[in-house]
Amino acid sequence: MPRFVRTQREMEGRFEDVFVLVDEDDPTEPWPAGAELRHVGRPAPRQDGLARVTGAAEYTVDVQLAGMLHALVLRSPVAHGRLAGLDVDAARALPGVRAVIGPDAEVGFGGSRLLSAEPAYVGQPVAVLAADTAAQAEAAVAALAPVFEPLGHVVDLEEALREQRFTEEPDEVARGDVDAGWAEADAVVELEIETPAQLQTPLEPHAAVARWEGGELTAWISTQGMFDARADLARRFGLPKEQVRVITRFVGGGFGAKQGAGTEAILAAELARVTGRPVRLVNDRHAEQLDGGRRAATRQTVKLGARSDGSLVAVESAAVVSMGQGGWIFPVNEPALTLYAVANAQAMVFPLKTNLRAQNAFRAPGVTEGTAVFEQAIDELALVLGLDPLELRRRNHVDHDQRSGLPYSAKNLLACYERAAALAGWSRRDELRAPQPDGLLRGMGCATQIWWGGGGPPAHATVRLDAAGHAIVTTGIQDIGTGTLTTAQIVAAEELGLPLDRVRVLGGDTGPNLYGPVSGGSMTTPAVMPAVRSAAGKVRRTLLGLAADVYEISAADLAVADGRIRSHDGGLDVDVVEITEKLGNATIDGSGSRGPNPDDARVHTFGCQIAQVAVDAAVGEVRVERVVAVHDVGRIVNPLGASSQAEGGILQGLAFALSEELVVDPNTGIPVNATLDDYKVPTIADVPEMVLEFVDVPDDAMSTVGAKGLGEPPIIPTAAAIANAFAHATGRRCRALPLTRARVLEALR
Ligand code: MOS
Repeated sequence: MPRFVRTQREMEGRFEDVFVLVDEDDPTEPWPAGAELRHVGRPAPRQDGLARVTGAAEYTVDVQLAGMLHALVLRSPVAHGRLAGLDVDAARALPGVRAVIGPDAEVGFGGSRLLSAEPAYVGQPVAVLAADTAAQAEAAVAALAPVFEPLGHVVDLEEALREQRFTEEPDEVARGDVDAGWAEADAVVELEIETPAQLQTPLEPHAAVARWEGGELTAWISTQGMFDARADLARRFGLPKEQVRVITRFVGGGFGAKQGAGTEAILAAELARVTGRPVRLVNDRHAEQLDGGRRAATRQTVKLGARSDGSLVAVESAAVVSMGQGGWIFPVNEPALTLYAVANAQAMVFPLKTNLRAQNAFRAPGVTEGTAVFEQAIDELALVLGLDPLELRRRNHVDHDQRSGLPYSAKNLLACYERAAALAGWSRRDELRAPQPDGLLRGMGCATQIWWGGGGPPAHATVRLDAAGHAIVTTGIQDIGTGTLTTAQIVAAEELGLPLDRVRVLGGDTGPNLYGPVSGGSMTTPAVMPAVRSAAGKVRRTLLGLAADVYEISAADLAVADGRIRSHDGGLDVDVVEITEKLGNATIDGSGSRGPNPDDARVHTFGCQIAQVAVDAAVGEVRVERVVAVHDVGRIVNPLGASSQAEGGILQGLAFALSEELVVDPNTGIPVNATLDDYKVPTIADVPEMVLEFVDVPDDAMSTVGAKGLGEPPIIPTAAAIANAFAHATGRRCRALPLTRARVLEALR
């Protein structure tokens, strides 16, 4: 019987109490240790890989509908100003222009306004219009000729701090008694480091196409959360959810920036409503870099106290965060509070209001920035104590979550340290500091990773097995580029006992009303795969029951694998089709849902990365030669997909350390490098050698699949490992990331 179970739902460290529907009779158990699995744990190419690489895959930016209009947003050129003139009539009079919406108009029904007559950052939407062609829309936006009276702006962190401009009250979390801790300490170190504003820069910008048919709205949206987008649009336009359909077949990356419907989909839907035509709204690259989102710049101060044996006795962390216009304050201090055992801890965060777009989630938001600084402080402590940095980390290992007091459901961090050290040649790291034939300075540094990534309910799936012996798995997954549909294919094929090519997974559409979570918080795999497995298990049991009828044998004596039904005694060995062909036009159906995570434990992911760098002291260039990454994310379902996630995360972390930084002119408040020319995302030439390994121990306490999320963990420790390698190579530490040539040369001076 399905039952409601009360449990906690976690997203990037925020917990909420929810009721979830759970099938209590589901007999699915974790696969026994040592079970011989045919598909799970073996590399499989993406089921849609060919479509992606040949260009056949239809992303939102590719959607073309008959009669479709092209929308364009007028964005503020000033950091803070009042609109004193806007020539809406001139724009309306131009050929092809179908609708112009100014800042005074309400968009949809109620809710906050998406267009502003008093923009508070460069790039903020002021007006939007739709025309027959993109060129006509451009001409019309030019004709709007806005005039702004400038108002004062603040983009500089220190200025905002001086003026005490907070988006909300500064927050403080404390445990124990840090003053008592300092008194016990044999060594105290303090470090202050700035981290940059980093732009998500997805290959596909924010994009939406909206179409009304009768009272129903269909929206193609490049989003990480189709179901949240559906709820946003339903609320905004006063519709029941079932009258909104969101389609998200392929997404060219989101990295946290594409939550819910977003401004683009709401404006496109409004323009489509008033014009009666389908409307396409796609950010150009400049708009994307100005208003797509960003990881907030921070200045963090970390103070650590330890006994001479390395054991931490006090930790203090204070983070000043440039929030822009607002948003949720990400858990910058989480590493300080949870990474190592320490009884006395104090963490403060100061969220500053600046004239920039509201900061938003970027792959492991908060924890990436926090780890980048905290783990450098740990290395400074190792230096003062004369301890090996990895040994210092081992000595402060903690087996439970110090925030909640609960044990971890599983933690294999020590195994990560051991493997990473072996793979990197950690024991010989000091040999790198001997004079090198190429004249470069070399060093090696490490950092630890902690993140959530346990997913949880709700998530649902159905499986239908047809007469041809093919299974269709329907999910609520939007694949933002990670390959999760293929992960679901592997899990379903395993449970059904079918070859991979007889299983196809659908997602990217709210139409079937099968809920899947937002592709965020590293939760898709851990949330959805147990639901897929449960649904497939029901189909398998039904199939074996039907085979038992046909062959007059007990179902308990049958098993299915490799597309064949076999009896344990070896007497029967037939293709699955021998049974399914009797279905005719019927199908064998199963549905499954995700059960709750354990209430008496916390589910987390862990890992260790070791970077080796070479520094050219003459020109200040830092080159990352190798990154060794060993992560504990429970079971690995698809090693190929997993390594792809790790590579992407490491590369983004490398760029956070070395090159990516949104630069804002304090005098004008204008971001000066909001383009792909000047904003330095890494290229293929920056890719280091990557040595990747996973501990690959299923977390059976957490779900029947035992797999946690891997979207976020790999980006978290990379920057700190690189900065620590730089310090090892040069004996210097830069007070700000990224380690640009100017900063490196200054540090080496
Ligand atoms: Mo969150 S950065 O969307 O995983």
